[in-house]
Order: sequence, then C-alpha cells, then structure tokens
Amino acid sequence: MPSEVEGLVETVNSFMVRLQSALDALRHFSGNASHQLRTPLAIIRTQLALSARATTLEEAQAAARKGDEAVAHAERILAQLLLMAKIDAAGSTEPQPLEVIDLIALAQQITGDRVPGAGEAGIDLGFEGDGKALIRAEPLLIGELLRNLIENAIAYAGKGAEVTVRVETDIGGVRLDVEDNGPGIPPENRQVVRQRFARGGRGQAPGMGLGLPIVEEIAGLFGGHLNLGEGPEGKGLKASVTFPAAVSA
Ligand SMILES: Nc1ncnc2c1ncn2[C@@H]1O[C@H](COP(=O)(O)OP(=O)(O)OP(=O)(O)O)[C@@H](O)[C@H]1O
Ligand SMILES: [Mg+2]
Repeated sequence: MPSEVEGLVETVNSFMVRLQSALDALRHFSGNASHQLRTPLAIIRTQLALSARATTLEEAQAAARKGDEAVAHAERILAQLLLMAKIDAAGSTEPQPLEVIDLIALAQQITGDRVPGAGEAGIDLGFEGDGKALIRAEPLLIGELLRNLIENAIAYAGKGAEVTVRVETDIGGVRLDVEDNGPGIPPENRQVVRQRFARGGRGQAPGMGLGLPIVEEIAGLFGGHLNLGEGPEGKGLKASVTFPAAVSA
C-alpha cells in the first residue's frame, strides 16, 4: 500500500472496529430489552384470556389484578430502558454546564418520598446528614440514581430490614451511602452485578438488572464513582457513591 494512504487506512480500520462494537452493544441491548418485556406481556395476554373465560366476577377480578401487576412491571422495565438510553445519549453529547446542588437537601427529600412505600414493604427507611453538601450535578439524574439504590434496598433487604440513606462530606468528596442490613451481595458477585442485565439469584423481586449500571453511569457523568461493600456490622449491602465536592453555589 502507498505510504501516503497508510494513516487513512488505519483511521478507517479503527472506525470500523468502533462502529462494530457500538452495533454489537446496541444489538445486545435491544435483544435483552425485548426478551425482558416479553414476560410481562405474555402474562397480560394470559390474564386477559382468563378474564374473557371467567364465569364469576371474582375470577375476572383476580385476572384483572394479575394483569395490572404485569402492566406495572412492564412500565418499570420501559422506564429503566428509557433512562439507560437517555444516559447513553447524554454521554455522547457535549457536556452541559452543571448547576451546584445540595445533595443533603435532595437526598433527604427523595428519601422522605419513599418512606411510606418502604413502610408498606416492612422496611424502616431513614435519612442521616446535616448542613449542606454541594456537588455539581443534574438533580433529576441524581434523583434516579438514588431511587435505584433505595429500590434495591427495599426489594432485596427483606421485610423488617433497616435502610439508611446518608450524605457526608469528607476529604474524598461528598459521599452518598445507601446501606441495609439484609443479606447483601457476596464479595465475589459485587463486580458482576454492576454489568447491564446482570441479576442476583433466582426467585427474587422482578427486575431487569439495569439499576446498578444506571447508578454507575449517572455517577460517572458527574465525576463520581460507585463502591459496593458491606453494610453495618459486616451485614447487608452498603452502596456508596462519591462525588467531587463543589466549591460554592
Ligand atoms: N441492597 C441489595 N441487597 C442484596 N442484593 C442486591 C442489593 N441491591 C442489588 N442487589 C443484587 O444485585 C442485582 C442487580 O441489581 P440491579 O439494581 O442492577 O438490577 P435489578 O434490581 O435486578 O433490576 P432493576 O433495578 O433493573 O429493576 C439484583 O438482581 C440483586 O440480586
Ligand atoms: Mg434494581
């Protein structure tokens, strides 16, 4: 090959490699997504068929209830998928100037919103943090990050568990902890659960394995990182996200 075009060939080759891996990722993602959606849709169909054949009002109502649960499940899957797609898009566009937000006020408010729901699930959800903890971030995305961590604690820690959301400032930056005293995640699985569509054991609450990857991607957008460790007294899970502290508002 003439030496003048060597650089061009290299550029085209590396572009093709990147394009191929982007396409592979997209194929993998939409394949998984449609697989995940198929289950609740099949349940909705079955329950509709059952209700059409029901001979009593009770039977029809029971089918409607199950169908409704499956719709809620499908809605949640779609919400997670849309969020993941939004984050992927945000990562590929020019970074926007970020506002300074007080993570203590935001986390306290979001935790407060979840207290009644947690109570219904038999979980004692609480918040710890005083004063202000300023970071540069987009509040809606931080809300999604926190909601995913709280939802995990509620879903997996088990009835009667205690869940604490805490915000602290230390030399490393501003740290957000969500810790529970449930079964936790064994150290050897803490890496794999961070991957998209990776889930824990069988027979757990419905989900699609996007929560922790969403948390990690959002943290990364604002210079933060996720750490998974043990909860209080070596029990349960402590998910910590550390952000660089912002200097002033
Ligand atoms: N607080 C926790 N305690 C114990 N296990 C957890 C906890 N949080 C997450 N896990 C485990 O990690 C897995 C991955 O969590 P992740 O939030 O990424 O996905 P998911 O909860 O399965 O689905 P989704 O969040 O998309 O609805 C879960 O399936 C669960 O097994
Ligand atoms: Mg989750």
